[in-house]
Amino acid sequence: MKYKVEVLTGIRPTGDLTVANYLGAVVPVVEIQETGVSPVVFVADLHAITDNEPSTVKQYVHSVVADYIALGIDPKKTKIYLQSDIIGEVTALTALLARHISVAELLRVPTLKDKLKMNANPETANALLLLYPVVMATDILLNRARKVPVGEDQIAHLEITRLLARRFNKKYGDVFPIPEVLQVKSLRLLSLKGDGKMSKTNPSGAIFLTDDLKTVASKIKSAETDMDGGMNEKLQSHILLANGLAKTQSERDEVDAIINEHKAGKPVMGKFKQLLTCITQNFLSEFQSRRAEVTRDPSFVPSVLEEGANVAKQNATETLNEVKKVLMTHN
Ligand code: TRP
Repeated sequence: MKYKVEVLTGIRPTGDLTVANYLGAVVPVVEIQETGVSPVVFVADLHAITDNEPSTVKQYVHSVVADYIALGIDPKKTKIYLQSDIIGEVTALTALLARHISVAELLRVPTLKDKLKMNANPETANALLLLYPVVMATDILLNRARKVPVGEDQIAHLEITRLLARRFNKKYGDVFPIPEVLQVKSLRLLSLKGDGKMSKTNPSGAIFLTDDLKTVASKIKSAETDMDGGMNEKLQSHILLANGLAKTQSERDEVDAIINEHKAGKPVMGKFKQLLTCITQNFLSEFQSRRAEVTRDPSFVPSVLEEGANVAKQNATETLNEVKKVLMTHN
């Protein structure tokens, strides 16, 4: 079969987004969308219930779609669907693909260990978590996606997708077009305190899209920087954040100028934090007012998802029909 979707990406609806999610996951898709390619984005609620309660997941589905639209994903250009809106197709292909990989192979997927608490033995994982890479392969192959932009942490999963597609094709003929990995450069955005990655699991060091302007100012005020003209990972991460969230070149020039002063030994970290605060506040207030517009009409997000589901369902049915056809004719 031929490729159907040029670029596909999935988001797990498991919490409020941070500015690191914006820069790492949303910006690359907005950039692709602006080149004239129509990407497909889907909300991976089945993946999210591997380690979250369904009721928690449900609560974030519409909110993450509203966030994505307010951040620049244009539903006229980019279709957005909810994975469980095509649950029949997803579970059917998951079962058909799962036959082609062994439990031992799944137990060796490195991300499985990362997901378990306190270095637990992979054999203690719940079975849906074990199937995580197979469900991901299903998403990609049902859509017959050509390119999948992912961060470094998802590369192992994409390799499983390619492996399953090749194994299936080898046995049954050229059914699945092989997807390509589009590695997006990892941003290494750290927590403001420098203790690990910026993430929602470490809220005091993370800037959430929902943070009010006062909260942002106080979080940045207590951020760690570097002394005496030095350049550590924390400061580098703050610079990345400032440049990523800046709306204008003149703001980025200001960042440059302050960092040059810092490197020359001047005590400008207070000034830098003020600028970072100002850039972040401008970004967030623009985002928050766009988001309010997106959610003003409560039927808007559901209508975007409905349109997305129609397209996804059609593509998935087409793929699945072909898969069933080759399975029934092979002996
Ligand atoms: N596993 C991805 C994550 O944790 C989400 C995801 C699920 C995905 N299915 C996908 C991403 C298919 C790309 C393609 O971020």
